[in-house]
Amino acid sequence: MDQKKSDNFLQDLASVVGPANVLREASDLAAYLVDEERRYQGSALCVVRPASTQEVSRVLTLCHEAGVAVVPQGGNTGLCGGATPPAGIDVIVLALARMSRIRAIDPSNNTMTVDAGCTLAAVQAAAAASDRLFPMSLGSEGSCQIGGNIATNAGGTNVLRYGPMRDLVLGIEAVLPDGRIMNGLKALRKDNTGYALKHLFIGSEGTLGVITGAVLKLFAKPASQAVGLAGMKDIDAAMRLLDEIQRRAGGTLTNFELISSAQYDHVMALPNKPNDPLSVRHPWAAIVELTDPDPAAALEDQLATSLHDAMEQGIVTEGVLAASQAQAGQIWAIRHAVTEANHRAGRSLSHDTSVPVSRVPDFVRGVEKQVAEHFPTARLVFVGHAGDGNIHAEVILPHDSAHAADLDSIATAINATINEVALSLDGSISAEHGIGRLKRDELQAYLGAVDLDLMQGIKALFDPKGLMNPGALFQHFKAAPTGRPDRS
Ligand code: FAD
Ligand code: LAC
Ligand code: ZN
Repeated sequence: MDQKKSDNFLQDLASVVGPANVLREASDLAAYLVDEERRYQGSALCVVRPASTQEVSRVLTLCHEAGVAVVPQGGNTGLCGGATPPAGIDVIVLALARMSRIRAIDPSNNTMTVDAGCTLAAVQAAAAASDRLFPMSLGSEGSCQIGGNIATNAGGTNVLRYGPMRDLVLGIEAVLPDGRIMNGLKALRKDNTGYALKHLFIGSEGTLGVITGAVLKLFAKPASQAVGLAGMKDIDAAMRLLDEIQRRAGGTLTNFELISSAQYDHVMALPNKPNDPLSVRHPWAAIVELTDPDPAAALEDQLATSLHDAMEQGIVTEGVLAASQAQAGQIWAIRHAVTEANHRAGRSLSHDTSVPVSRVPDFVRGVEKQVAEHFPTARLVFVGHAGDGNIHAEVILPHDSAHAADLDSIATAINATINEVALSLDGSISAEHGIGRLKRDELQAYLGAVDLDLMQGIKALFDPKGLMNPGALFQHFKAAPTGRPDRS
C-alpha cells in the first residue's frame, strides 16, 4: 500500500475507533507483534482496539475494501503463534481487550452473555458472583480472553468433567471478513436449525472472522471439594488409579493431572518451590480433585477410601489428602509451577498431543524410548491431563546445550518423533492448543485429502479474499484474483 493510501486508511480507522485506539508507535506495537513463547515476530500497519461489535464491523469493512489482512488478538497467550501477524504484508492486529462487558447473566437459564474481550478470570468471577460456575480453567486465565478461548477451543484442567470450550458455548456473535455481523447469540440448549455455524468458529483461530460475543453455559457452583496427591510406581498404575476413581466418583471427578518424577524434580528445584507433601519422589504423581455442589457431600471420605483401597491393591505407593483449602492450594501450586520450572530448567519444547485414554501408557513408553534413542542429551518430562489422553511431553534442552545453534532443526525433529508416536496410537497432533503458525505444515500431512478440501472450502466461503489471519492453519491458502481460492 502506498503512503497516501496508507495514511487515508489509518485515518479512516481512527474515525471509527478514535485516534487513541489506533496504535502506531513501535513501542506501543511491540507486545502485540511477538507471541507468548517468543518464537514468532511479526509486523503490522497498526493495532486497532475497537470497543463494540459495530466498531469491529466497520473496521473489517474498511480492511475488506482496502485489501488489508486482519489478525484478531485476545490475551496473546496462545502457544502456536496464531495471534502474531505475518511480516511483510499489509495487516492490522485487531485487539479485543476493550470489549470487556459482561452483557447479561440469566441464572435460571444457567447462561451468561459476554463480550469476546472479557478475560477468562473476569468471566469466572462474574459467574461466581451469581452463585454459578464457569468451569474453564487455564494457567493463563488472568490474561487470556473468551474470544481466544473459543477461537482455540481451549481445554485446561477441568475438561475431564465439563469438556473443552466447544462444550461450553451455546451461541456466538461474529463479524465476517466483509463486515457483516452473524448474530448467533442464542441461549438455547436445543436448536436444530440447519448447520451449527457456531461450531465453525470454535477452533477457527481467527481464520473465518472475529468473534465478538458469546453465550456461555454455567453450572452449579461447587460447595464441597476434596483434593489428593498420589504417588505411583509406573504409568500403568497411574492410569489404573484414574480408572478406579472414575468408576467410584463418577461425575464428581473434576481433575486428574499427572506429573512425572522429572517434572516434579524441576518444580522442586525452583527457588520459590511449593511445599512437597510426599515423603519421597515417585515415578508418577497424580493430583486428584472431586467437587460437588452439595455442601454435605462426603467427598474427602470418598477420596480417602479410594486412595486407601488403591494402596491396598498396590496401585498407589503413597497418598495424601488435603486437610484444608490451604493444603489443597499447596498441592495445586505444584501443577501451576510447571511452566516456570521448565523454562528455568532449559530450552523447553512443549508438545500437545492426545491419544485415547487407554493408550496413554503406550504413548509415554513410546516417547521415552524414542527420545532416549535419538536425543540422548535431552531431558524428558511429562505433565498434563491424563483423563483426556492429553499428556504434554516436554523436552528440555539444557541452556548450555551444544545443540543451541541448531535449535530449530532439533525442535522440528523432536516434534516429528513425538507426533509419530501419537499418530501410531490413533492420536492427534493438537489436543488443546491449536495449529496457529506452528503446526500448519503438520496439519497438511495429518488431514486426509477430503478433510483438507472441505476445510479449504469453508475458508473460501467465509473469507474469499484470504484476509483473515493469513498463514494461520493454512500456509498455502491464497485468494486468487477472482476471489476464488488457489488450492495449489
Ligand atoms: P490469543 O493468543 O490472543 O489468540 C489465539 C488464537 O485465537 C489466534 O489465532 C487469534 O487470532 C485467535 N483469536 C483470539 N481472539 C479472537 C477473537 N475474538 N475472534 C477470532 N479469533 C480470535 N491452553 C489450553 O488449552 N489449556 C491449558 O491448560 C493452557 N494452559 C496455559 C498456561 C499458560 C501459562 C499459558 C501461557 C498458556 C496456556 N494455554 C492453555 C494456551 C492459551 O492460554 C489458550 O490457547 C487460550 O485459549 C488463548 O487465548 P488468548 O485470548 O490469549 O488468545
Ligand atoms: C498446561 C498447558 C501448557 O497444561 O496446556 O499446563
Ligand atoms: Zn494443557
